[in-house]
Amino acid sequence: MSGNEIRKKFLEFAVRNGHAIIPSSGLVPENDPTTLFTGSGMQPLVPYLLGEEHPKGKRLANSQKCFRAEDIEEVGDNRHTTFFEMLGNWSLGDYFKEEQLQWYYEFLVDELGIDPNKLYVTAFVGDEESDIPKDTESVKIWQKLFASRGISNDVAEIGSEDNGYTRGIKEGERIFYYDAKKNWWSRAGTPIDMPVGEIGGPDSEVFYDFGTPHDKKWGEHCHPNCDCGRFMEIGNSVFMEYVKTDSGFEKLPAQNVDFGGGLERVAAALHDDSDMFNVDLLHNIIKKIEELSGKEYASDKESFRIIADHIRGAVFMIADGVLPGSSDQNYFVRRLLRRAVRYSDKLGVQEDKFAEIGERVIETFGLYYTNLHEKREIINEALCAEEMTFRKTLDKGLKEFEKISQNGVSGHDAFVLFTTYGFPYELTEELANEKGLTLDKSEFETEMKAHQDKSRAGAEQKFKGGLADHSDKVVQYHTVTHLLLSGLRKHLGEHVHQAGSNITGERLRFDFTHNEKMTDDEKHKVEKFVNDALEAGGVVSTDVMSKEAAQEDKTIEASFWDRYPDEVKVYTITNSQGDVISRELCGGPHVTNLSEIKGKFVLRKEESSAAGVRRIKGELTE
Ligand code: ALA
Repeated sequence: MSGNEIRKKFLEFAVRNGHAIIPSSGLVPENDPTTLFTGSGMQPLVPYLLGEEHPKGKRLANSQKCFRAEDIEEVGDNRHTTFFEMLGNWSLGDYFKEEQLQWYYEFLVDELGIDPNKLYVTAFVGDEESDIPKDTESVKIWQKLFASRGISNDVAEIGSEDNGYTRGIKEGERIFYYDAKKNWWSRAGTPIDMPVGEIGGPDSEVFYDFGTPHDKKWGEHCHPNCDCGRFMEIGNSVFMEYVKTDSGFEKLPAQNVDFGGGLERVAAALHDDSDMFNVDLLHNIIKKIEELSGKEYASDKESFRIIADHIRGAVFMIADGVLPGSSDQNYFVRRLLRRAVRYSDKLGVQEDKFAEIGERVIETFGLYYTNLHEKREIINEALCAEEMTFRKTLDKGLKEFEKISQNGVSGHDAFVLFTTYGFPYELTEELANEKGLTLDKSEFETEMKAHQDKSRAGAEQKFKGGLADHSDKVVQYHTVTHLLLSGLRKHLGEHVHQAGSNITGERLRFDFTHNEKMTDDEKHKVEKFVNDALEAGGVVSTDVMSKEAAQEDKTIEASFWDRYPDEVKVYTITNSQGDVISRELCGGPHVTNLSEIKGKFVLRKEESSAAGVRRIKGELTE
């Protein structure tokens, strides 16, 4: 069964169970300033999980394009990719554990025909500190499901990561309790790590057993969550029913289900082959690279995997409007392609072939993701241009690196390699690591900062004109939320941080940490702060820096550090007097000048949102 068929089957199965199919959102979140990329299917659905009504009803499903930038260095083994598709289904206060677990089991066993003897499942052991109970319900449901097929269904508690997982799997055991590190899901991690206002819940995962021998390098005992490669997670049902508040956890207005399963992982299980790159969706691309390099996949799997993953990721990004470039999301696309150039050199792929590999990606995925066809020309051009630009300097840069690295590599060297030869910092770091050398990132950053300050005069224009009218308004509102937060912090105090936001082309909704109802005078002052800024005008500029450096800079406001990658973006608004009026960690996009924001800000409503969290609704009126 091909990847395309599995996706189709999943969606058809969901429709039979009453779900409406919603389209995949873009790889760049439109309305979620907390993250650079869409990394899970639930991200675009957060407002609905929080209780807002979804126009398509209470049962939704899709296959969502996802990108996890943090995994870029992991690509090369048999299971990591930056881009992937997540099969997802959601219950917005409709069905719960019973239906969800039964359906997914049936999908795997009856629809796909996976041997249920190879399936192992997990559930949440509970968390006393957060007062979240043990998920005995899921365990009972799993016991029933396995028993119905005459399969052993013993339950065990596995211990935790901290104590080295105290036991392995005993004869007959199939269902395992783990702690919050493994069986709790939120965008920000475990209950303790979650910021106030974030949603999460216990989850129950399904694992496929490839039966490969345990490698003790990964720990004394093998168990479903062991990383030795025997087990692969092929689906995660999150029972999203909690929101974090100042005083602990509260129940959300409804009990939701957020299910996600990696399409290629499911396919790998179905084929009983632990190499995800043998799944046709990826293997089609590998075959093209075999053709172009004259080498076999087996001769250097790592290089083949990196090229296939990175070019695929870049193709999807470019189709979503993210061209290779130097800032924001664009930089990741550049990194993907430059890294791919290096590995295709290793395999001896001739130059000017990226567009051909990109074409194979379009052929493979275009049936479902039709925008790949629509964007074919742009994709071809961008792949070709980035490949050729980098190739011009790669050889010289590598020679320069060889020369420099005789005496170690400094942050300054990395800066020169970056500005002269276009080496992303991470490439120099990788080359240095291969030689057993270390690199001082802060030195590189200091030089980069000075360089950026010099070249910033030209302010970024990229979001201008690139967005439709409607999105333009969303971007304007987004920048207004930064002014709003500054105004709130100025007039209510420094304890105020963002707790969430929701923006449409018509209005903004903004949640922030504060205990009391705002007085009319406070509301008036905050509204005036925003409008004075809009009237006076000001420049919005961006810096990219390491998360570490940003965390040390106390002038930078941020609420969700955990949700940001190692590299972060900081947006600064400077008014016409040259005063900084806002400096905030954010994924963008924003206007480049406050004069682009049309209308006057009106604070319509201020109300309680959760314990310790207030909510403002406001709009721009002409
Ligand atoms: N949101 C859940 C995940 O990404 C399903 O694993």
